[in-house]
Amino acid sequence: MGILQGKRILVSGVLTDASIAFSVAKLAQEEGATVVLTGFGRMSLVERIAKRLPETPPVIELDVQNNEHLDTLADRIGEHVDGLDGVVHSIAFAPQSALGGNFLNTTWEDVATAMHISTYSYKSLAVACLPLMKEGGAVVGLDFDASKAWPVYDWMGVAKAGLESCNRYLARDLAKQNIRVNLVAAGPLRTMAAKSIPGFKEFEDSWPERAPLGWDLSDTIPAAKACVALMSDWFPATTGEIVHVDGGAHAIGA
Ligand SMILES: NC(=O)c1ccc[n+]([C@@H]2O[C@H](COP(=O)([O-])OP(=O)(O)OC[C@H]3O[C@@H](n4cnc5c(N)ncnc54)[C@H](O)[C@@H]3O)[C@@H](O)[C@H]2O)c1
Repeated sequence: MGILQGKRILVSGVLTDASIAFSVAKLAQEEGATVVLTGFGRMSLVERIAKRLPETPPVIELDVQNNEHLDTLADRIGEHVDGLDGVVHSIAFAPQSALGGNFLNTTWEDVATAMHISTYSYKSLAVACLPLMKEGGAVVGLDFDASKAWPVYDWMGVAKAGLESCNRYLARDLAKQNIRVNLVAAGPLRTMAAKSIPGFKEFEDSWPERAPLGWDLSDTIPAAKACVALMSDWFPATTGEIVHVDGGAHAIGA
């Protein structure tokens, strides 16, 4: 029996098979869950990638900036499952001007886009799924350690700091519905989102050396395992937490 046996899990953020969300969906299925995916924009690509999972899940369109998508999300998920036990937020975006060393010149419009998609959507997605979570459950989001200023990460770093705070407020407000809310702070991984960060190589070069356990930039399984564990019944008293899955780099001085 897998640790998600009988659970119904919504996974957002699958774009390619290198997406962290792809590994989460795969492991969740292997651990016994029924998975529903949401996809953004390139729906035919997401549907093609979904076929590479052990069982092809339904794919529902969700642009977190589209209120109609959010308002109808629970009904559209409800066509496939009768409730949700877990929700994975694996969504981030920042315009190019908000990344790569342009911190002092980024416009508010571009910062607002980054915050809307990467921070506020954590709350939007959780709230949109509430009608399906009457028996409680778990929300898990993907974070990048926001306790420091990093090279090139710029306004995405600010968005992640907001995500970490949002995680604590969601944990506070959803606890009465028996919903746990936690983040997995992953080390750098070679996904589409990472490739769009100019200068991402700076992370690639230093992280495996800094991490006491070492770090494989193309292995999304450790982060996915943590997401699956947090949605299982094995973290019943944990909420508002940030679990670092980064080879231990966050614990070590440079
Ligand atoms: N790759 C890394 O190094 C790394 C490290 C730590 C945390 N993370 C986080 O992991 C999460 C997933 O990213 P990834 O690295 O797997 O990259 P990815 O590019 O595979 O996933 C990012 C996802 O965000 C989705 N997205 C963008 N705009 C959207 C919108 N308006 N509505 C809905 N979805 C939208 C994309 O479609 C894509 O599926 C992100 O939150 C990212 O910040 C990534």
